[in-house]
This record gives sequence, structure tokens and C-alpha cells, in this order.
Amino acid sequence: MSNKDNQVSEGLEGVLAFESSISHIDGNIPELVIRGYDINDIVNNLIYEEMAYLLIYGDLPSPSQLSDFDAELKSLRNIPVSVLKFLSDVPSESHPMSVLRTAVSMLGCIDLESDLSEESSVFLKLKSLIAQIPTVVAAQARILTGQITVEADSSLSHSSNYYHMVTGEIADEKILNAFDAVLVIYAEHEINASTFACRVVTGTESDIYSSVVAGISAIKGPLHGGAIDGSMNMLMEIASKENAEDYVKNALANKRKLPGFGHRVYRAGDPRAHVLKRMTLELANSRNDSKWFDIALEAERQMASQKSIIPNVDYYAAPLLYHIGFPVVLMTNVVTSARIAGWSAHILEQHAKNRLIRPRAKYTGKMGIKIPKS
Ligand code: COA
Repeated sequence: MSNKDNQVSEGLEGVLAFESSISHIDGNIPELVIRGYDINDIVNNLIYEEMAYLLIYGDLPSPSQLSDFDAELKSLRNIPVSVLKFLSDVPSESHPMSVLRTAVSMLGCIDLESDLSEESSVFLKLKSLIAQIPTVVAAQARILTGQITVEADSSLSHSSNYYHMVTGEIADEKILNAFDAVLVIYAEHEINASTFACRVVTGTESDIYSSVVAGISAIKGPLHGGAIDGSMNMLMEIASKENAEDYVKNALANKRKLPGFGHRVYRAGDPRAHVLKRMTLELANSRNDSKWFDIALEAERQMASQKSIIPNVDYYAAPLLYHIGFPVVLMTNVVTSARIAGWSAHILEQHAKNRLIRPRAKYTGKMGIKIPKS
């Protein structure tokens, strides 16, 4: 179908690029529905393994399907020694998302059967990445803080093991619920920039790892997943709730985009931010430490009154992860380790009904110029 009006939609805003049965956003209500279930219902009832299953298979697992899936993910958690060695040898100043991107690319080089021809192997590779990306991120956390890496523990659930591999400790119930909820909330979000990147690469019939590396490259950016580190750094810069008004005023006067605010689709509120705000407050109260929540709340009020811009998912996820001990520099990596489940669903959907993704550009350059004769 051609675009008869020759209209460009800057940033593809409002463009429907695919039919998809994975997730649906209505920015006006606002609501996020994944495989038919509302995100609030999901976060109150599903753990990450169930969410990942729902995403890649399309339905909730029966108890025996969940038990098999859980066992399979556990069996896939370990990463090759060469990848661990790379994580230890890479300069500590390297951007943690570049390190993760390279580690996933290495996994693709080590896997000699990484193409898309065998359906069962496609599922297996995606499940491996769902299981292994947390292991990579946890190893990064240990190495960056000068500690030895922690082996995966197959007696622990996905989130519990992930927390254990990062901190060396066993999460209490409150921390575990909060961390698992963050992973569930980040698992999928329709055709955002990184998911689109995964689908574009899948559309060329490249391999799975290349699709995921494209997703990681896109989510790294500060306008996308990278905003979570930016949000925590901003709260630290504000430092006290009394500074929030001036901080926001100055940023807006200088046309600076504040990380953790604004959204292309949700203009009236991000439902994920509502859940995370409540959870961050609960966690802060349970630990008698509401400093970061108080600063965030005041900056949110200031943004609302000065420019009417809403907090997005990253805004309260940042202090929540900080509370439970995740290094700020690795927060985008944590987001990526959750989003791999949604990317997997989109890679599968794109692959199942593939058509090469190839939009057009409206040409605004010169025409008819002749190469000068020498
Ligand atoms: N801080 C300050 N102003 C912001 C803002 C922010 N975070 N987000 C949007 N705005 C302002 C824009 O400057 C613009 O103002 P104007 O009309 O006076 O020029 C208006 O809101 C509309 O924003 P626009 O740039 O058209 O939105 P977009 O759809 O192109 O961008 C984002 C959406 C997410 C890229 C943008 O809101 C942003 O950069 N946010 C910060 C990064 C972030 O948190 N990303 C994670 C998203 S989940």
C-alpha cells in the first residue's frame, strides 16, 4: 500500500506498523493489556516465570507447564566461561550496556546454530537468553563492585536467584515481591523503540542473537531504557525535596528533558508508574527511609505544576531498585534482563508471519545536479 498523501509522521508517531496479539496500550484511559490481561492484574498475580511463559507461548501455564518451564529456565542459567572471562577482563569504565550487548553477541558467536530455521531451537535459544541475561547482569554487578561472582542456585526462583547472584544474599519477602514486580512490569511494552529494532532485524531473517543485540542497542539510549539510571542520578542531584522546585525550573528553562518524565503514548499517566510509585512508598516505609521517595514525589509535583508532564515507568523504578541494592549504573541492564521476555514474544510473532520491514523516506534533498567534468 502506498502513502498517497506523501505524509511523514515524525518519529513514526501514531503509525500502526504491525498487527500484534502481544500487548495493547490505550494512552487515553490509560491502560496496558498484555495477552488480554491488565497490567495491574498481572503484577498482583503473576511471577516473572509465569509472565515470560505467557509472553512467549501466548497463554498462562498450567501448574505442570509452569513446573517444566521453571526447571528448563533453571537448567539454562549458566553462561560460558569465555563470557565470564570477558566480563572480568573488560575495562571497568566501559558502559555496562555496551558490555551486556557484547556478552549477548558472544553468546551468539558461541552458539553455532543461531539461525531461525528450526522452530524448537528458536524457542530454546530465547529461553536461554531469558535465563542467561540475568546471570550476565549479576556477574557485571559482582565484578564492578570487586566481588567474586555467585553461582546460580537452582533451589531459588528466577527473581530470588537473580537477587542472590547480585547481592550474595537471600531476599526477604518484601524485597523479593518488589524486585519480581519490577521484572514483571518491564517484561513487555508493545512496539517501543527496542522492540521495533528486534522486529526489524528478525524481519531480515537474520539470527536471534542479532535481533536481541539490536534491542539492547536501542534500549541503552537515555530516551528509552537508559532513562532509569538518569532518573536515579537526577534524584541524587536534587538531593533534598526542598531543592526540587528550583531544579525542575532550571531544567525546563534550559529545555532539558528530565529522565523518567514524559511518554510518547501515555500523555495522561503511565499505569506502570502508578504501581511502582505505590510499591516504592511501601518499601520506603518498611525501611523507615523515605528520602528518595520524598524527593521523587516533590519533583513529580513540580513537573505537574510547571509543565504538566507525567512520570513514566522509570521514574519510581529507579528508587525502588536503589532501595533493594542494585547499583545505579546497572539499572538499564536490569530493565533489559526483564524485557528479553517481551522481545522474545515479538521475535516469535515477527518470524511466524514475516514480511521484510522496509518503510520509505520523503526525499527533501536536491535533484538533477550533474557531476562536474574534470
Ligand atoms: N522533561 C521535560 N520536558 C519534556 C519531557 C521531559 N522528560 N518529555 C517531554 N517534554 C516536553 C517536550 O519538551 C515538549 O515540550 P514543548 O511542546 O514545549 O516543546 C513536550 O513535552 C512534548 O514532548 P515530545 O518531545 O514531543 O515527546 P516525545 O513523544 O517525542 O518524547 C520521550 C517522549 C519519552 C522521548 C520524552 O518524554 C523524553 O525524552 N523523556 C525523558 C526520557 C525518558 O524518561 N524516557 C523513558 C520513556 S519510558
